[in-house]
Order: sequence, then C-alpha cells, then structure tokens
Amino acid sequence: MLSWRMLAKIFVLLGVAGAEYHVGVGIADVTGPAAEVVMMGYADQDQRVTGIHMRLHARAFIFLDPEANKRMVYVAVDTWAATESLIQGLEGRLLMELPGLYSRHNVIIGPSHTHMGPAGTSPYYLYQVSSFGYVKQSTQALVDGMTEAVKMAHYNIRPAKVTMGLGPVDNTTVPGCPMPYCASRNRSPTSYLHNPEEERANYSSNMDYDMDLIKIVDAKTGEPMGTMNWFAVHATSMKSSSGLISGDNKGYAQYLFEKAINGPSSVRPAGRGPFIAGFGAGAAGDISPNTYGSWCQDGKSCETAQSVCYDHRGKPSNGECNAYGPGGGDILHSTKVIGERQYLAARHIFDGADRSIGRGVDYRTRYVDLTQYYFKYEDGRPGRTCPPAMSTTFAAGTTDGPSHVDEFGQNMTPTNGFLRFLGHLITLPPAEAKSCHAPKDILLYTGSMKAPYPYMPSRMAFQLLRIGDLIIAGVPGEFTTMAGRRTAKAIKKPLVEKGVVSPDARVVINNCASGYAGYVTTIEEYQHQRYEGGSTAYGPHTHGAMTNILREMAEEMAEGKVYRWPGAVPKIPTQDQMMEGQTDVVADDPPIGGKFGDVKTDVRGMYAPGHRVQATIWGAHPRNNLRRNSSFVSVWRLKDDGKTWHMVADDNDWELRFEWKRVGISASTVTITWEIPKDCPHGSYSLYYSGEAKHRSSIIKIEGHTRTFQVSNKTSYPYYDVPDVNMTERMRRTEQPTS
Ligand SMILES: *[C@@H]1O[C@H](CO)[C@@H](O)[C@H](O)[C@H]1NC(C)=O
Ligand SMILES: *[C@@H]1O[C@H](CO)[C@@H](O)[C@H](O)[C@H]1NC(C)=O
Ligand SMILES: *[C@@H]1O[C@H](CO)[C@@H](O)[C@H](O)[C@H]1NC(C)=O
Ligand SMILES: *[C@@H]1O[C@H](CO)[C@@H](O)[C@H](O)[C@H]1NC(C)=O
Ligand SMILES: *[C@@H]1O[C@H](CO)[C@@H](O)[C@H](O)[C@H]1NC(C)=O
Repeated sequence: MLSWRMLAKIFVLLGVAGAEYHVGVGIADVTGPAAEVVMMGYADQDQRVTGIHMRLHARAFIFLDPEANKRMVYVAVDTWAATESLIQGLEGRLLMELPGLYSRHNVIIGPSHTHMGPAGTSPYYLYQVSSFGYVKQSTQALVDGMTEAVKMAHYNIRPAKVTMGLGPVDNTTVPGCPMPYCASRNRSPTSYLHNPEEERANYSSNMDYDMDLIKIVDAKTGEPMGTMNWFAVHATSMKSSSGLISGDNKGYAQYLFEKAINGPSSVRPAGRGPFIAGFGAGAAGDISPNTYGSWCQDGKSCETAQSVCYDHRGKPSNGECNAYGPGGGDILHSTKVIGERQYLAARHIFDGADRSIGRGVDYRTRYVDLTQYYFKYEDGRPGRTCPPAMSTTFAAGTTDGPSHVDEFGQNMTPTNGFLRFLGHLITLPPAEAKSCHAPKDILLYTGSMKAPYPYMPSRMAFQLLRIGDLIIAGVPGEFTTMAGRRTAKAIKKPLVEKGVVSPDARVVINNCASGYAGYVTTIEEYQHQRYEGGSTAYGPHTHGAMTNILREMAEEMAEGKVYRWPGAVPKIPTQDQMMEGQTDVVADDPPIGGKFGDVKTDVRGMYAPGHRVQATIWGAHPRNNLRRNSSFVSVWRLKDDGKTWHMVADDNDWELRFEWKRVGISASTVTITWEIPKDCPHGSYSLYYSGEAKHRSSIIKIEGHTRTFQVSNKTSYPYYDVPDVNMTERMRRTEQPTS
C-alpha cells in the first residue's frame, strides 16, 4: 500500500515539483453607487458620479506555504485607498466566513488609487468633507466584493509555480514609447532636487521606471492563473471633469491583460476570471501619468516651483496650470494610452518572468500612534512626529487636479484670504504645533479637529509581508519616489543580512495599502513645501518615523521574532455614528405618459465598425441595486440561427458606457454609448438596459432595449453618429516630451 507521504513524493516527481506554494486567485465586482455620489481622489464636491465607464473590481491572491501552513492574501482593489473602514470591514467578514485563517495580519489591501470611484469610504472626517460625510453604500460594495474575491481565491487554492519578473516601463518593453516620459513623470521635480546630491547621483532619474511582477502558473496544467505587479504612477489619467466610474489607467491595463488571456467579452464577460491581473501602485506620491507635463492656458510652461501661471498683470493662479497626458485634452485617450503601456510592459515582463520567487511566507502588522512618536535615525539623530496638520499648499491641489483656489499656489504663502481665515477660525494652531511642523504654513490643524469625529488618524497601521524574495511594505500614505527608495533600502538590509532573502530580493512600497493619512516626502523635500510636502501631515519627520517603524518590523521578521507589542487596532466610529450627508433614492417614476424601459432616443438602422452608436432609455436610479457582478447596460448580437441573442459587451467593457441623468423630480434617463470595435463582426445588434426602480415604495425590475440595428461596413454613413461626450478640455495637444 502506498502511504500518503509516498504518494505526495510521487506527485512531486511527476512535475508538481517546483510548487513550493499553493495559490488561489479570485475576482469580484466592487462597483459602488453609480450616480450622484461624489467621487474620491480629487476631493472635488462638484465631481459626482454620472454613470459607469468601466466597473471596479477586487482581485485576490492567496499564497500558502504548505510546509509551514502559513498563508497571506493580497487584495488588489480599484479604489482610492485602503481605508480603516475597508480594512476592518473585510477583516470582520473574513473572520465570520472563513474563521481562523485570515485577519488583518496576513491580509493586505492594495488600492490602484483610481480617483474615479465613489467617495465616503474613510472613517476620518477630512476625507469625508467633499462627500458630505460617510457613504455606507460605497464602503459596503467594496467590503462585499473584496470578501467575495477572497472566498473565490480560497476555494481554488492549488499547487502553483510562482516566479518573479522585473523590468522597466520604457521603450525597451513598450516598443516606440516616447522617452523619457513613457508612462510616468515626476510632477514635483523641484522638490526632488532638494534631496542630497550624493543620493541623487545614485539614481538615473527622478522617477523609477521599474515594474515588479509576480507570475502564477498552475503547477499541474501549466495554465497561467494570474499576475500581479507594482509600477509607480498615479491612476489619475481621468480628471475631475469626468463623472464616469472607472479604474483609470491601471483599471484599463488590468482589463487588457485579462482579456488577452481569457478571451473577448463575447466568450467570457470582462471581470470574471479565471485569469486575474492586478496592477498595483508603488511609491507614486510625486509621479503623474500626465507625461506631457503641466501647461498654462496660453501654451506657456507653468512656473515650476509653485506650479502657477501668471496673467497679464502678473497675478499668479494655480487653477490655470494643468497637466496633460498623451491624449492632450482628450482624457479618455490619455487613459487608454497610459493603460496600454503598463499592460505592454507587464506582458513583456510576464512572458520572461522565470526567476523563482524563493520560499516561504511571512507577515507583520504594527499599529503606531504617529501624533507623538519619538525615534532615532540610523545615524543617531533624534526625530519626532507631530499631531497632524495640513498646509496651505494642500489646498492648492496638484497640477493633476489643481484646486482653482487661486490664492494657493504650491509652496506659496497667502498673505490674506478667505480660506486662511476660515482655516484659522476652526483650528488656530498653537505655537508648539507651528514649530513642530516648520516650515509648514498650517492651514488646517487637523490634529485638534475631533468633531464630529477625528479628521485624521492618530494610530495607523504598517504592514510587512514576504513571499519568498518579494517584500511588500503596506504604508498608510503616498510615499514619493525618494522616500520610497530610502525606506525600501532600510527594510531590505536586515533581511539580507540575516539571510532570509537573497541580495537581489525586491522591496515594493505599496502606497495607501494600510490606511490613508496624506503624503510622505523625505525630510529634504518637506523643506520645499509643495503639495506633497504640504500634505505630509505628521511633520518633517513623518518619513523618518515611518521608515524607522518598518525597519524595526523588518528586523523582527529577519530574526523570526516578535518582540514588540504590535499595538491596538485604531478605534473608528461605527457606521451609525458617522454622518451621511447624501440622501438615498426617494422614488423613481416613469416619464409622463410613458413607462420604464421606453426608448427615448433610438438608434439608427445601420452602422459601420468603428462608429459610435448611442440610445437613451427611460430608466431608474442605479442606487436601488448596484448590480455587482452584473451590468446595467449591454450589447447583444443576433446569432446566425436568427433566433437567439448573445451578449458581446457590457458595462465592464471599455467600449460600452452607461450614463444616468435625473429628469424632473423622479424620472431618469439612461444613455448607452457603444464604440463599435473596428473588428466587430457584421450582423444584427441591439442595446439593452436593465435595472431596478423604487416605484410606489417597492423595488421593481425594469428593462428596455433599442431596435435592432445592423453593423456592416457597407453602410454609406462614413461619420460618427453622435458627438462624443464633452470631455474635451481647454487644450488639445500632441505628445512630445519637454523639459
Ligand atoms: C459575485 O461573484 C462572486 C464570485 O463568483 C460570488 O461569490 C458572489 O456571490 C457574487 N456576488 C453577487 C452580488 O452576485
Ligand atoms: C529608447 O530611448 C532612448 C532615449 O531617447 C534612445 O536613446 C534609445 O535608442 C531608445 N531605444 C529603443 C529601443 O527605442
Ligand atoms: C550611493 O550608492 C552607493 C553604492 O551602492 C552607496 O554605498 C551609498 O551609500 C549611496 N549613497 C547614498 C547617499 O545613498
Ligand atoms: C468589410 O468587412 C469584411 C469582413 O469583416 C472585410 O473582410 C472587408 O475588408 C471589409 N471591407 C472594408 C471596405 O472595410
Ligand atoms: C466642451 O467643453 C468646453 C470647455 O470645457 C466648452 O468650451 C465647449 O463649448 C464644450 N463643447 C460642447 C460641444 O459642448
């Protein structure tokens, strides 16, 4: 008789060999309320959700070391930040649904940092101000979807071969990519120059081109299961002029990679797996996708230190200085190009990723009160943090999303002005705070702002996770390039010295992964108070303190010990204690004299591939049912049998858009726009809408569809049917790198 042990040995000999990990992957929809709620990222209360361009997803990767029976989970999510509400929400659900296996200690949430998702997910009031409070539905959709993704991954854990890859996102991986700004560009180069010259001399650029990648292949079948990568760039190609939910450039890159392996949406709807590709954020605090740089309206380059433009009278204005991507004023095009470039680089690195990731899984989580943390730098100098405060440059925004509050340029000190008055009125900072934060010019002393509940966190989490030779540091904020490099070095050192990882191990600084508390610049960059420095909330030593914490964690991990108290979980207000300022749907009614699902503006009879087709249908508010894992709108093709219809695209797809509009008091229209792909097969098609209405105080299902139309390149209409949604900004530029 064969014993189990021997059987296992035979399996290993048969080629399940090399499977030092067991891996599970899973994906689920996390798209929140698709109308009216304010979006999160630009903190612009006029930027409200008007529909869906692409759905948002959670992508879970579970790595299990079967020998040690130790596991960790990486959840890549299309959202702005892993807030304390999301972290505690997910942990609570996993504790209930998969007890004993997953907790905050071995689960990390890695946000893509898209600014095109619904707001109201942070329990800290500063990050709720623009959305008029907390939004339960936004948070719930994310927690539900993340839980589903982890469960799906959990139930398909199997032996897998895990390798790692590393390569640049530049013209060597993306043929013809314009250099030096292929898919990213430092948006605060003058701050970067404040770092010591000897340190800068060690790096070829003020940004990192590197993309770190994990490749997961089923050990038995050899089928690719998934991939995960980190590349430092903001997912902010879309601007606050758009209200359509979108994963932005990283969302599009994920979509392209998954489609390339899983097949077109007509075979398998987008966002359903089985192959899953997560694109994560690195230390992108100062890295913008707006590769063309920032420009004034008159076509002149902005003043570089403060990012302002001057009018003819010499008056500075920050709202006039805007950054542009490769599409110029066409933000959809910029998003597509920057997404495509990240996908192409990832694909290139994936195809050549043959370095075994190594062995073992380990993790540490620690909570530290950053309002008063005293420490010593490695050279013995003392450092301390301060209760949080935001400067006037925080109010200026960045060139990726200037605030249009002209009083505030980046690194400018307003002498008078309403906002300063307002800020001081609520929060007069004591002299002690001023000196602790110097040279910051404090606008909001958030450290003292506790009503209705704290504006910013005091205690926050730090995470360190290791999969073989890849170390992921989850940080509660947006590290700049140089801040990330220094911290990565500090983390790696003890792990290499103790032989836990090899000298060429990689450390990824995962921004916004263990909470959100503003930006994190180096102490030298802090002296130059641009947006990033002005938003470094805990004083000049914020970065030194965070690095010290992570270095101590790395030392413990290197020694295989836990000798520090990991701290207590931050206490946050309950959902019921938080204010929710945005009202729920009151009622939906059909149009006067019509019914739900009636077509208001129908399609024409014939279109050619490459055309745009659009229709408007009487619908209802999308907040009645979020339709996660499903869709509001879709395109169907009549099969060759002439009887049955087959779905070819839905609102997960790049080419199909769903837009919602309130008409009168309680009626709504839904506009469906389909960019017919150039390679679209000829045939008969129809656009379909389905949703739920809150009618006479119950929720009813409604649906409607357009008439059938032909897609044929024999059509005599050589033009687009309808004009594009107006995302055209003031300028349209062609791509060419500038200094
Ligand atoms: C979404 O899909 C996941 C994974 O298949 C599934 O577990 C979950 O129940 C679905 N959720 C909804 C709301 O349909
Ligand atoms: C990449 O760009 C650099 C800098 O512009 C150029 O020198 C090099 O020839 C390019 N390489 C390729 C493969 O295009
Ligand atoms: C620059 O790199 C060298 C070689 O890796 C290293 O010894 C030195 O400490 C670095 N200097 C700074 C300022 O980081
Ligand atoms: C029309 O479509 C057919 C089939 O898709 C294709 O072979 C043909 O080249 C197209 N003709 C034109 C003029 O685009
Ligand atoms: C598009 O928007 C620009 C400014 O954002 C405006 O000047 C222009 O008139 C708009 N075009 C249309 C067709 O609405």
